[in-house]
Amino acid sequence: MLLLGLLISGSLYTAFAPAQAQNQASATDQIAEGKQLFLASCAFCHGQNGEGIPTVRDGYQIGPSLVGVGAAAVDFQVGTGRMPMASPGAQAPRKPASFNDDEVAALAAYVASLGPGPAIPNESDYSIEGLSETEREEAITRGGQIFLTNCTACHNFNGAGGAMPRGGYAPTLHGVEGKYIFEALLTGPQNMPNFSNGNLAPDEKRDVIAYLDSIQDTPEYAGFTLGGLGPVSEGMFAWLLGIGGLVGAAVWIASHTTRTKKSKVDA
Ligand code: HEC
Ligand code: HEC
Repeated sequence: MLLLGLLISGSLYTAFAPAQAQNQASATDQIAEGKQLFLASCAFCHGQNGEGIPTVRDGYQIGPSLVGVGAAAVDFQVGTGRMPMASPGAQAPRKPASFNDDEVAALAAYVASLGPGPAIPNESDYSIEGLSETEREEAITRGGQIFLTNCTACHNFNGAGGAMPRGGYAPTLHGVEGKYIFEALLTGPQNMPNFSNGNLAPDEKRDVIAYLDSIQDTPEYAGFTLGGLGPVSEGMFAWLLGIGGLVGAAVWIASHTTRTKKSKVDA
C-alpha cells in the first residue's frame, strides 16, 4: 500500500511539476520580451524602467509613470493604437495598432510586472454574445441608465463624442469593441474618470457595452439628426431657421408699411 501510494504521488508529481515550471519559464520569457519592446518603443517617454519622465515640454509631460497602471491600461492604449504616441499633446488619438497581439501581451505582462494594477478582463466579463434575448433587453435598459448618468456629459447622449477643454476630445463610442470599452472604464484614459470594479461592477460594465451595441444600429427617427451633436447643432438650426424667418417677416412687414406711411406724408 505504502509503495503504491509513493508511486502514485511520485508519478502525479512528475506529471504536474514540469508543466508548472514551463509555465513560469514562459511567463518570464514574455516579460523579458516585453521589456525589449518597451526599451525600443516606449522608454524614451516613459523611462528605462517605466518610472516616467516628469519633464514638461510645450505644456505636456513627456510620459507618466506606468508603475501600477496594470496590463489593462497597456492592452487598451497599445491595442487601440494610442501608444506609442507620436509626441506628447492634447490627445492620444486612436490609430491602427503598431504591435501584434503577442507583442501587446508581452508589453502588458512587462508593465504588469512593475506593480499591481488592473488585469486584462476575461471575455466572459465583456462579451454579450451568451445573453438570451430577454437578458440582453434588460442589460440594454440598465446600461442605458448608467450611460445617461455617467457618460453623456462628455460622450454625448448618443455616444457620438464631443469636445473637451484644452484642445482634446471625447471620441465617438460607435464601433468600439466590448473589450476596449471595459478597459477604458477600468483605467480611465486621459481626461476620462475611471470606473473601477468597485464603483461600477463588471456586470454593470457589460450592461453599458450592451447599450452601446444597441444604439449603434438604431435607425434615426424624427427626420434630420443634424450630426447627432445635440444642443449646439439643434440650437444653430433653430437660430438660422427661426430667427431667420422672423427677420424675413419683419423685413416684409416693414417694406409694406413704408408705402402707407409715405402716402400719409404726401397727404
Ligand atoms: C511620445 C511619448 C510617448 C511614447 C513613445 C509612448 N507613450 Fe505612453 N503615454 C505618453 C503620455 C504623454 C501619456 C499620458 C497622456 C495620454 O494618455 O495621452 C501616456 C500614457 C500611457 C499609458 C496610460 C497610463 C495610465 O495612467 O493609464 C500607458 C499604459 C502607456 N502610455 C503605455 C505606453 C507603451 C506601452 C508605449 C510603447 C509601446 C508608450 N506608452 C509609448 C507618452 C508616450
Ligand atoms: C469627463 C469626461 C468623460 C466621461 C464622464 C466619460 N468619458 Fe470616456 N473618454 C473621455 C475621453 C477624453 C476619452 C479619450 C481618451 C484618450 O483618447 O486617451 C474617452 C475614451 C473613452 C473610450 C475609448 C474609445 C476608443 O475610441 O477607443 C471609451 C470606450 C469610453 N471613453 C467610454 C466611456 C463610458 C462608457 C463612460 C461612462 C460610464 C465614459 N466614457 C465617461 C472622456 C470621458
